[in-house]
Formats: sequence, C-alpha cells, structure tokens
Amino acid sequence: MELRSRRILFVIVILLSGFYTYLGTAIDTITASQPNRDPETIISNGSDFILGFFSPGISSNRYVGIWYNKKSEPVIWVANRNKPLHDASGVVSISEDGNLVVLNGQNEVLWSSNVSNSVTNVSAQLLDTGNLVLHDLTTGISIWESFQEPTNTFLAGMELSSHMRTGPIVQLRSWKSPSDPSPGSFSFGIGSSDIPEGFIWKDSQVYWRTGPWNGQLFIGIPLMYSSYIDGFQLLADGQTGFVNFSYSFPNTSMFFVLTTLGILEERDWDDKKNDWEVTFWSRETECDVYGWCGTFGSCNPEKKPICSCLRGFEPKDMEQWSRGNWTNGCVRKRPLLCDRINKTGEVAKEDGFLKLEMMKLPYFAERLPIPVADCREYCLNNCSCIAYAYDAGIGCMIWTVSLIDILKFPKGGPDLYIRLARSELEKDNKVVVIVPVVAGIITCAIFTFFLWRWMAKHKTVKDKSRALLLDRDDTCSVENFNEVELQELQDLPLFDLETLATATNNFYLTNKLGQGGFGPVYKVTLAD
Ligand SMILES: *[C@@H]1O[C@H](CO)[C@@H](O)[C@H](O)[C@H]1NC(C)=O
Ligand SMILES: *[C@@H]1O[C@H](CO)[C@@H](O)[C@H](O)[C@H]1NC(C)=O
Ligand SMILES: *[C@@H]1O[C@H](CO)[C@@H](O)[C@H](O)[C@H]1NC(C)=O
Ligand SMILES: *[C@@H]1O[C@H](CO)[C@@H](O)[C@H](O)[C@H]1NC(C)=O
Ligand SMILES: *[C@@H]1O[C@H](CO)[C@@H](O)[C@H](O)[C@H]1NC(C)=O
Repeated sequence: MELRSRRILFVIVILLSGFYTYLGTAIDTITASQPNRDPETIISNGSDFILGFFSPGISSNRYVGIWYNKKSEPVIWVANRNKPLHDASGVVSISEDGNLVVLNGQNEVLWSSNVSNSVTNVSAQLLDTGNLVLHDLTTGISIWESFQEPTNTFLAGMELSSHMRTGPIVQLRSWKSPSDPSPGSFSFGIGSSDIPEGFIWKDSQVYWRTGPWNGQLFIGIPLMYSSYIDGFQLLADGQTGFVNFSYSFPNTSMFFVLTTLGILEERDWDDKKNDWEVTFWSRETECDVYGWCGTFGSCNPEKKPICSCLRGFEPKDMEQWSRGNWTNGCVRKRPLLCDRINKTGEVAKEDGFLKLEMMKLPYFAERLPIPVADCREYCLNNCSCIAYAYDAGIGCMIWTVSLIDILKFPKGGPDLYIRLARSELEKDNKVVVIVPVVAGIITCAIFTFFLWRWMAKHKTVKDKSRALLLDRDDTCSVENFNEVELQELQDLPLFDLETLATATNNFYLTNKLGQGGFGPVYKVTLAD
C-alpha cells in the first residue's frame, strides 16, 4: 500500500515537472507574478530569441541579455550593461511602478526601463524580432521597447534615429571588450549633415563614413551597389529634421554589430553551413579610417604606399609624408585662377576639372537644388567651389572646404571632379606629347647603332665624311646625339640617301628583308 502510493506520487512528480518544463520553454513573457530568475530563460514564440542571464567571454559577472537561439548564441541586447551582478541571485521582474527591472539578491534595482508615466498592469514580452516589449495590458499599448535602446546590435525593424541638426538620438554603442558589455569607445548612427550619412565615431570623433544616402543606398559603400538594393530605408522629415534609418530583408536571419574594435559587421545565418557568415562594412583596410591620407590625399588600398596626393597637389610636409606620416595631407601646387585674380588681377585661362573615377566622395558635401547638368557650370563660376560630383538620387553636390577622406574603389562608386589650375591640367597633355618624342629619339639611337654594327660587319665603304642617316620619319637627326656619339658616328660607314635609294631600288618592297622595332631592313646592292 505504502509502496503503491509512493509510486503514484512519483508519477505525479514526473508529470508535474514535465508540465513545468513545458511551461518553462514556452513562456515568452515576464510579469510581476512571473519573474525570471537566474538561470531561467524566456524564449520568443517562434524560438528565435532567448532572454536570460549570461556571462560574456571570460567574465563571471552576470548580465541580462537577449541572444539568438542559434549557434554561438550571439548576444544582441544587454540590459544592465553598466551594472553587472557578481553572483547568480539576479531577477528580471516588473516593479510596482510598472517598469521592467533587473534586481540583485538584495532587491536593489540595477537596471530599469525607466518609464515615468507608467501604468501598473503590464507585462514584458520577447518577440520573434528580438524586440522586448513592455505592454500596458489594459490598453494593449506598448510603453517601452528594447529596440529603442539598442546596445551594439542593429536588427531588422530597429530604427536608428537622429536629428539633422543635433545628431544621433538612437545609436549603437560598442562593448568595451568581448568580456565587458559596458559602453566602449565606438558608436554608430546617422550624423547631422546636409545629406544624411552614417558614421562610426570613436570617442565622438568621426572614425568611418558611409558616404551620403542617395535614397537607396550609401554611395560610399560599394558593396551596397551589388546587393541590398531596396532593403534599407532612410526616412527624413524635412520639416522636423528627424531621420530614421532601418532595414528589412524578409526570411533572413541577419544583424549588424559594431565590434569592440569599431568595425561594423554584418552577420548572416547560413542554413547550409549551419553557421554565421561575416561581411565587413567598415575597416576592410586602413583606407576606411576617416581621413587616413589627410586633406587632399587619396587612399588606394591596392597601391603601395596606400596614400598619394590628388593630382595637382603635393605633400605639405615632404619629410613626414615620405616616412608614412600622412596626417598633414597635401597642398595645391599651382594656385587656382580665382586665387590669382583675387591677388594680382591677372587675366589667365580659366580653371578646369579633373575627373576621378570610382571614388569615396569627401566629407562635407553640400547639396545644391540645381539640375545635375548645371553642376559643373555652377562650380566653375563660384570661386569657393573646389570640387563637385553628382548622383541621380542626390543631385548636384559641391565642396567648399578642404577635401578629406577620399578613397579609390576598385569598382563601384561615383566620380569626383576636382578644380585645378588650367596649367596643371595642360601638363597632362604635355606628358602625352613628350613620351613619343623621347621614344622616337631612343628608337633612332638604337637604329643607328644596329645600322653601324651591320655596316661594320660587312666591311663596306669607309672614310665617308658626309654624315647622312637614313631618315624616313623625320624624327631622327644628328642633333639628337651628343659629342661622343657624333664622334662615333663619323667612324661609321655612311651612305647618302641617293646611294641607298639606288641600292634598294627606291626602297622597293621586294628588297625589304623585314621590319624590327627600330625600322625596316633592306637588302642593298651597291654599285661598287
Ligand atoms: C530615468 O529617467 C529619469 C527622468 O526621465 C532620468 O533623470 C534618470 O537618469 C533615468 N535613469 C536611468 C537609470 O536611466
Ligand atoms: C490586467 O489586464 C488584463 C487584460 O486586460 C486583465 O485580464 C487583468 O485582470 C488585469 N490585471 C489587473 C491586476 O488589473
Ligand atoms: C517568406 O516566407 C514566408 C513563409 O515561408 C512566405 O510566405 C513569404 O512569401 C516569404 N517572403 C519572401 C519575400 O520570400
Ligand atoms: C606626424 O606629423 C605630425 C605633424 O607634423 C606630428 O605632430 C606627428 O607627431 C607625426 N606623427 C608621427 C607618428 O611621426
Ligand atoms: C558660392 O558658393 C557658396 C557655397 O555654396 C555660397 O555660399 C556662395 O553664396 C556662392 N557664391 C556665389 C557668388 O554664388
């Protein structure tokens, strides 16, 4: 009898614990009567996200966080990032004033959702988007969301917001280290500027730029041109100046994380590999660091050294520059017409523009409300304009301050037109002319040398004094040679043109033996 009742009790206990486990895994909400105690967790309805206590990296501190229910369980949000627990006594609950709170064993509030006008009948629910939402149960209205207070992770449906004049309102903030989620040096958000643009800041200094938003993508991120079209959204309210940046790619598990080193990474879940795939958005090379080559410097990760001055510019401090210290940047070699007119009143040819293809456009672009076709003309006629560029989505952009943060992309990216003095642009043409002339002189010299060797070998007529060379292209003449060479030339067996013409039957084709790099070679029959 006693044995039987024990058995029944045992069965009941098993049933109850099974029931409890079932409830435990299915729960996605926290209420005042149903708090979450370390090490319990709650899980979103579709099992995509988990909320609970965790210890990051090698730390033994306890934090409340939300993580992906997938391999390596990446943490996407942390509540008490500033105030960790030092033991396992933590509780996540709803306080009497209707806030979501993290309490330690002494019932001290380590973190609170901190909504002031809160109601008392509330519950916190973890959604399948990764958002933790505090609901007023009486009205059903959401009074607080974890998406409003992101840590270092940007998820689909989240909005990074900012004011065009005052700067970011909601932004990402990196962890201090992989074992310490407290706020690190780096933040990511939309900056205050004429054209909306994303930035990573390091201790509030610009560290990386996305380039301006053109309605579909940031034009300073070439990888956005190939994919991602239409997945991102940036809404700017012209009246209030508020900007919202979000994204949505249906049926994908992906997120962006700002790492402790200040790199913006995209992580995509790959079903086939059963693992996360990482794509770097910033900091692929040093060129991605803001202003790496200084003002009027251009960075090209495929060149060595990676920094060079824009054409028409030279290092400001040659010594530092040649040592690889690019911070001083470059200065203009020849003054612009504008500057000269201002100073001397001289009349000269007008400035021109040099086209630089596939560039990351410099910082501080101004958008002009004029047709793209008038962009060049406007810039040319306004002495404060030192460069322009255009994009179908943005329109005409001009620059009136020193150009900084220019990068040469291997592919993709807009063209940049920089203003240069006419003489600087014409120098280009001279180079093109000079090269063939020099090449011609060298060809002549080689040709003469081989002719001399050939003649010497065949021991033909000597002591001819008239220096006349075979000259079919008029590019080759004695004036091209120096004294020594002339002396040598006088020792050569030389023929006048008539003799050669006769000997080759007026350079008749059948007498042509072949053609080398230095000219045609003919078979000759000399009279003697
Ligand atoms: C909570 O909100 C109040 C007022 O809105 C603010 O002064 C206080 O700093 C906030 N506390 C925390 C921990 O965010
Ligand atoms: C909270 O709201 C729910 C839904 O309206 C209701 O069923 C419940 O009784 C309320 N609880 C309290 C304590 O008011
Ligand atoms: C996403 O998945 C759902 C359900 O599997 C499907 O109905 C929907 O069409 C998919 N959407 C896209 C854009 O592929
Ligand atoms: C680079 O040049 C700047 C300005 O001349 C100087 O202040 C700085 O110390 C130099 N940096 C290094 C690493 O030499
Ligand atoms: C030249 O451009 C600057 C910057 O856009 C502007 O402030 C200035 O009024 C322009 N000057 C003229 C003469 O158009």
